[in-house]
Amino acid sequence: MPVKMGRFYLEVYGCQMNRHEAGIVRRVLESAGYAETADERQADVLLMLTCSVRDHAEQRALGRLGDFRGLKARGPGRVVGVLGCVSQNLKQQLADDHGVDLVVGPDGYRRLPELLASCRPGASPVFALDQTGECYEGILPVPESPVLGSVTVMRGCDNFCSYCIVPYVRGRERSQPVEQVLAETRALLDQGVKEVTLLGQNVLAYRSAGTDFAGLLGLVAALPGIARVRFLTSHPRDVDERFLLAVAASPRICPALHLPLQSGSDRILGLMNRRYTRSDYLARVELARRLLPDLALTTDVIVGFPGETDDDFAATLETVRTIGYHYAYMFRYSARPGTAAAGLGPAVPDAVARERLARLIELQNGITAAHHRALVGRTLELMVEAPAPRGNGMLARTRSGTAVIVPAGLPPGTIRDFEVTSISGWTPVAGPAI
Ligand code: SAH
Ligand code: SF4
Ligand code: F3S
Repeated sequence: MPVKMGRFYLEVYGCQMNRHEAGIVRRVLESAGYAETADERQADVLLMLTCSVRDHAEQRALGRLGDFRGLKARGPGRVVGVLGCVSQNLKQQLADDHGVDLVVGPDGYRRLPELLASCRPGASPVFALDQTGECYEGILPVPESPVLGSVTVMRGCDNFCSYCIVPYVRGRERSQPVEQVLAETRALLDQGVKEVTLLGQNVLAYRSAGTDFAGLLGLVAALPGIARVRFLTSHPRDVDERFLLAVAASPRICPALHLPLQSGSDRILGLMNRRYTRSDYLARVELARRLLPDLALTTDVIVGFPGETDDDFAATLETVRTIGYHYAYMFRYSARPGTAAAGLGPAVPDAVARERLARLIELQNGITAAHHRALVGRTLELMVEAPAPRGNGMLARTRSGTAVIVPAGLPPGTIRDFEVTSISGWTPVAGPAI
C-alpha cells in the first residue's frame, strides 16, 4: 500500500543551511497533508536531514539510521528517508547497506510528496539525486523560531577548497533573484520575525541582474519592520571596501563577520586552495575593523591538514592569537573521498592532530573568555530570543552575536538596552539598564 499522508519525524544535522532547508521540507510536507510528530515511534515517515562535511558527521547519521531501521522492523509500512548532503554523497550505498527507502539530495525536496507516494514496502528504493540548480523559489520555509528567520540568497559553491565536499554535494553556485529574497524576507517580517539571516556558502558571490551582495544588504536592511540583519558565510578573498561600507551603512546590519581562516600558514592555505595569504587575510581584518566599530569576528579553523608541520600549526596559533576572534569553530581535518586533498600526504598522525586541536581550543577559550569579561559593566542593545537552555532567564543576543542571559519575563523579540553585570560559567549575564 502506498504511504499517503501521515505523520513525519524529522531529525536535522549540519550547518545553518540545513536548518533552513528543514523549514522547506516541513512546508512541503505540511502543504501535502503530512503532520510533524516529535515522537519517532509515532511516525509513518522517518526522515533525517544529513551532513557530510566530516566523516564523523556522516557516521553519526549512519548510526542513527540503525535506530530508524529498528523502528521500521517493528512497524512495517514505515518509510525511512535520508535527505541532504549524505544522500548526495553515498547515494545507492544508503539503500544497499542501510535499508533506506528514500534517498533525496539537497535539490529534491520540492518533490517529496510525490516521491513518498511512490515508496512501497518491499519495493525498490526511490532516489532523487539530480542536481537541478534548485533554489526553492515560491516555497516559504517554516521559520526556526517566532522571532528569528533565515533566507537563502545563494546555494551551492564553486570554490573547491581542496578539503571540502560541499561543492560536490551541493552543486554549482547560483543566486536567488533579488525580488525573491525581498519577498521571502517580507513574509518573515509579516509573521513577526525581527531578525533575518541571509544564508549562502559564500554570500559574497551573490550576483543577480546587476545586484551584488552589498546592494542586496542595503535593500534588505531598508525593509520596514526589520530590526537586525545578519549574513553567513563570507569568503575572506571576496571581502572588499564596498561590501564593508554596505554593512556600515545601516544600523540594522549587525557588525559581525564570520570569516573562516582555516589556517595561518601560507603553504597550507595554498594547498587548501583558499586563494588568500595570511597577510591578505590580516589586511582585510584591519580594513573591516577600521570601517566597522565594535566588529565581532568569528572563524573556522582546520588543524592536521595533510603535511601540516609544527611550524605551520604555530603560524595558525599565532594568527588566531593576533586576531582575537570572538568565537571559533575548530576542527580536525577529515579526509573526504573524491576531494583534491584526499590524495595529499603525508597524513598528520591522529594523536598529533588531536593535541594540536586541544592547544588551539585552549588558546581560543581564553580569548573568548576575555571578550566576555570585557562586556561586564557595558550597556548593550540585546534582543531576547528564547528561554535560556538551562532554566533561569532568557537567552538574548548582542548585535555582534554574543549570547547573554537576561531575567525571565520579557517576550522573545524584545529589543532594549541591558547592562552586563557578571559572567556565569561562560555566559555573560545582564540586568535592565538603569
Ligand atoms: N561555506 C562555508 C561552510 C563550509 S563547511 C565556508 O566556506 O565557511 C564549514 C567548515 O567546516 C569549513 O569552514 C571548514 O572549516 C570545515 N570543514 C570543511 N571540510 C572539512 C574537512 N574535510 N575536515 C575538517 N573540517 C572541514
Ligand atoms: Fe567548502 Fe570552501 Fe565552498 Fe566553503 S568556500 S563551502 S569551505 S569549498
Ligand atoms: Fe552543510 Fe554539512 Fe552539507 S556543512 S552544506 S550540511 S555537508
